[in-house]
Amino acid sequence: LETIRWKDGVVVTIDQTRLPHKVAYLKLKTPKQIATAITNMNIRGAPLLGATAALALAQTAYRSKAATKEKLIHELERTAVMMRKTRPTAVNLFNSIDTVLQSIKNRVGNVRVLSKFVIRKCLELVEYDAEVNKVLSLKGANLIESGDTVLTHCNAGELATVRYGTALGVIKMAYRQGKEINVIATETRPLLQGSRLTAFELMRESIPVTLITDNMVGYAMQIGLVKKVVVGADRIILSGHVTNKIGTYSIAVLAKKHRIPFYVAAPISTIDNKQSVEEIVIEERNANEVLEFLGKRTAPKGVKALNPAFDITPPELVSGIITERGVLQPKPEHIRKALVGASF
Ligand code: MRU
Repeated sequence: LETIRWKDGVVVTIDQTRLPHKVAYLKLKTPKQIATAITNMNIRGAPLLGATAALALAQTAYRSKAATKEKLIHELERTAVMMRKTRPTAVNLFNSIDTVLQSIKNRVGNVRVLSKFVIRKCLELVEYDAEVNKVLSLKGANLIESGDTVLTHCNAGELATVRYGTALGVIKMAYRQGKEINVIATETRPLLQGSRLTAFELMRESIPVTLITDNMVGYAMQIGLVKKVVVGADRIILSGHVTNKIGTYSIAVLAKKHRIPFYVAAPISTIDNKQSVEEIVIEERNANEVLEFLGKRTAPKGVKALNPAFDITPPELVSGIITERGVLQPKPEHIRKALVGASF
């Protein structure tokens, strides 16, 4: 799968809303088109959002006719404002924008050279995502034993990253090492990232996968079907609180009750070292996603619905955070140490 690609100023990406039935590619020619693709969920998943935001900045530099460094920075900042408004929760998007803007501010040179520098920096960030996910997948695979049945939630696979995936990267790597692995994937209401995307990715690699609806997790654990849980993350803060797809917290509570290890796999670029748990913005999406199923109204007219896209799992429920810098304990001192010298 090639989730995202830069080709002469055009961002080519899989349209994830059409999976699993059709592998169709979108050619996004402007930052505005990229922003719309993110809000419409054609592109999703925290690391991929970080990479895509970087490509929107690369596109701005590529198309820029700015005559001075100040004008170029102004154009980049306009794109940054637009990208920051797309989805509020995945910190990768904010981290990659900050990294790119900071790098040009510290740079001297003529504007054409600076534009090229921005493009190169953005493409490096994209490639870096693939590299770190490969490394964390290898580290995480050591935690998986042959014979394990691993439960995962939402989609934290290749489709959510530039390549390899995070939680699914760990599972796939363990499988490629020859371990006998079974996966239980939750359907992930309301947008079905589990059944549409995770099942699709695992089937392509012939990794045994069984789908369950989100409300079957407790049952599956109670009858001993689940050995380990591995999920991705959209934002991890220093206290070790993990924000991920809505439903993750319930799974973590159930895992604790059943003494099942609950791992989070995410690159260091998913760490937010500034916010506290009260400051995390949980995206609230359109209620119709809950009131409808596959575009068909299922709820009675006039009923209200909640639709938070993410929830927050407290550190006491997390057995370990699998990163490219090792498996961290969800504790401030461990997370802070892993951040030293990080460049994303
Ligand atoms: O709303 P989505 O599909 O963007 O949510 C995705 C998730 O919650 C993933 O688990 C998370 O981004 C990690 S992806 C490697």
